[in-house]
Amino acid sequence: MLSMKHPVSIICFMVLTACGGGSSGGGASSTTPPVSSSSVSTVSSSSSSSSSLSSSSSSSGSDLSLKALVDFPVGVAVNAGNETNSIFLENTAGIAQRAIIEQHFDQITAGNIMKMSYLHPDIDTFAWTQADALLDYAAEQNISVHGHALVWHSDYQVPNWMKNFPGDKAAWSDMMKTHVQTIAAHFSGRVESWDVVNEAFEENGSYRNSLFFQKMGSDYIEEAFINARAADPSADLYYNDYNLSPGDAKFLATLDMVDDFQERDIPIDGVGFQMHVYMGWPSISAIKASFQAVVDRGLKVKITELDIPINNPFDTTNYSFPNNYISELTPALAQQQKVRYCEIAKAYVDVVPAELRGGFTVWGVWDEDTWLINQIFDGKHIEWPLLFGHDFQPKPALDGVAAGLTGQACS
Ligand code: G3I
Repeated sequence: MLSMKHPVSIICFMVLTACGGGSSGGGASSTTPPVSSSSVSTVSSSSSSSSSLSSSSSSSGSDLSLKALVDFPVGVAVNAGNETNSIFLENTAGIAQRAIIEQHFDQITAGNIMKMSYLHPDIDTFAWTQADALLDYAAEQNISVHGHALVWHSDYQVPNWMKNFPGDKAAWSDMMKTHVQTIAAHFSGRVESWDVVNEAFEENGSYRNSLFFQKMGSDYIEEAFINARAADPSADLYYNDYNLSPGDAKFLATLDMVDDFQERDIPIDGVGFQMHVYMGWPSISAIKASFQAVVDRGLKVKITELDIPINNPFDTTNYSFPNNYISELTPALAQQQKVRYCEIAKAYVDVVPAELRGGFTVWGVWDEDTWLINQIFDGKHIEWPLLFGHDFQPKPALDGVAAGLTGQACS
């Protein structure tokens, strides 16, 4: 495993997970993430960007259904409401996405429309229409919903009124209580679980100096959990983050918080591992050790945002645009990605006992719509991080997940 610097301007990076917001969002990091030495050593090109779709297609074709293979949620993040590429569009993208979702997934996460600014656009205004429509669709399809996210610092999705909210800590505490409880109560009984607080720690293990931390100190975290439990006693409550790597300060801080919550009876049901990972990094042993640490505390483990791009822009030895990057998903690379997906899925079922499996979620339906293209690769080239290709066809990665979730060998 190599280790190298990346620009602070890049929002988020790898490890067991990655990220922190959109192009205008938070989550910037200046730490030194490890990168894969095996993930980006192949093709160089300055022009071609189309994948060999037919040659990299899944072998299992139309019979496979991921959700039928396991008895824990198999989830996917979706665009909905009036977002670009909403699953409700009556065009090819909408129709194809719905077909994929209904065949393979029994849980959905709103990629955006259940974030703070969407649901609580003004201090006295809550906007439910788009999210309710998504939940109605999910209920019709017998699909559960993972709520994302009650509290997240990322600039673009913290409503402006909240950024400008005056008052002391007590006033902030009341305001955040209203925010969390109103939303959690509205969806009570209709969401399986919530990311209650997202990305509260820096890489060095300190609390992120977010708006909420500035106004309330670390109390905003436990108060959010307490308020969420009060408003929706049936939902599983997760702390969700990226870069939860064993031994790293950030993961140790997360575990310290969890231990403290458990000692003081602050409600928490699980840890969400975002897992915006790369082809060769982090190692499967590191992933397993992280899961195990949460299992050891009797908490649920949920893979909340998995994606695995082929290029790794932080591996500056092997990646530079436009001179050195992978511009085509060759069959060999698709096969490597299949194995990687399989190994991660298998690590999950190997380490996490059935009663603690919160679910396995990929962050997007099809390659065209990944957040990585715009927010990690700056729109410079396409990527192939998900289970379905730019043509909506299943990729070998889909077979990899199926094999891994069912404990088969990864090959
Ligand atoms: O809705 C506006 C639209 O009106 C505008 O025209 C357009 C122009 O840029 O922007 C649109 O908003 C974008 C939004 O996605 C909806 O498409 C934001 O700019 C963009 O920053 C935002 O990115 C999202 C990002 O979170 C920030 O909220 C990504 O889609 C979403 O995949 C990403 O997801 C996060 C998880 O919530 C938390 N973990 C990390 C993960 C990846 O960053």
